[in-house]
Amino acid sequence: MSKPIWIKHAAQLATLASEGKGPRSKEAMSELGLIEDGSIWIEEGMIKAVGTTNELEERYADRVNEAEVVDATDHLVTPGLVDPHTHVVYGGSREREFEMRLEGASYMDIMNAGGGIHATTRMTREALEEELIEQTTLRLDSFLAHGVTTVEGKSGYGMNLETELKQLRVMKKLQEQHAIDLVPTFMGAHAVPAEYKGREDEFVDQLINEMLPVVAEEKLAEFNDVFCEKGVFTPEQTERILDAGKRFGLIPKIHADEIESYGGAELAAKIGSISAEHLLKASDAGIKAMAKAGTIACLLPATALYLREEAAAGRKMIDEGVAVAISTDCNPGSSPTTSMPLVMNLACISMRLTPAEALTAATYNAACAINREEKVGSLEVGKQADIVLWNVKNYQELQYLFGVNHVKAVWKKGVKVV
Ligand code: NIG
Ligand code: FE
Repeated sequence: MSKPIWIKHAAQLATLASEGKGPRSKEAMSELGLIEDGSIWIEEGMIKAVGTTNELEERYADRVNEAEVVDATDHLVTPGLVDPHTHVVYGGSREREFEMRLEGASYMDIMNAGGGIHATTRMTREALEEELIEQTTLRLDSFLAHGVTTVEGKSGYGMNLETELKQLRVMKKLQEQHAIDLVPTFMGAHAVPAEYKGREDEFVDQLINEMLPVVAEEKLAEFNDVFCEKGVFTPEQTERILDAGKRFGLIPKIHADEIESYGGAELAAKIGSISAEHLLKASDAGIKAMAKAGTIACLLPATALYLREEAAAGRKMIDEGVAVAISTDCNPGSSPTTSMPLVMNLACISMRLTPAEALTAATYNAACAINREEKVGSLEVGKQADIVLWNVKNYQELQYLFGVNHVKAVWKKGVKVV
């Protein structure tokens, strides 16, 4: 039995206590469940008690000597951050495209000329499994260093059975080897591979008939995601792929309305997708439909910044009643970053979320977007002890001092990993 850990005297403990109520919207996004002079008791990797330091001192009076004590005086303590949307497993890198975009080429021009997602697909097809594990491990280490303890990861740089499986198996191995919790999504429909150009529907058939059954059989993914975008997959093709995935028990997600308004938000609401991602160009009707259906908006302000596009209408979505989560979108093209703290800053600066809303979007709502809210995303009794101690006094300061990593320490399942 490992020693209990007692974190005490936190200037501010943001518990995000939610009592299993599910995705937060409107005013509930601002309720952080703050405790001043806060305290947490951890045993066997789980949270056993949360309260003020006085309360826990009384409750554990006969055991305080057993515990490893962490003095959090003057510091903010939050749940481990959750990143609900990444493409973290990939080969190679695309710094030359960054340069090309600054010289005037657009993201879609580069992709249509065989670069972009296609370039990373070639490099990922060529990479050995061990190489992908090595490169992804470095990125996961960096996530942890930025206070992120749970990460969703998508396949989609294979777009053939062999490499899609390779990416998903890499995630499965990393889930066993790495401290981070990795949540796998199948995204064979990330683009139409070059060899299927002009035969898009044939690729969709192949994905449905040959890839999905194997992914499901080997239990390699929980979610199924499609890049629904003009020139990539139509809403009709997206619906076919996601319906087929549902029959295999995969929960739908959609990369929706990123580059052009294309009915992606409406589709996500219609088919009961757990979330819709990006949404830079989501229509007003789409936003209303998502609020009504309870579809979580997973917004990616670092991607918007990196593509030099206007960010999604996060403020408006919250005001309309959409539950908002945020994410890095970590990928080699449109958002090569692992910094969720930066994403929280940007959620405030470019989408006008308040500091409290941004924290909810990066913890509890992010956990809801990947079906993990019963285990992570808040500091509540019975949940995993995934905890961050920050070098700031309060949550406002966390969002205010921007572009800096304020992490002081991170515990994953009660083990100090940073
Ligand atoms: O979420 N938009 C599609 N997919 C990724 C980018 C992938 C890439 O450029 O490699 C995204 O932004
Ligand atoms: Fe993405």
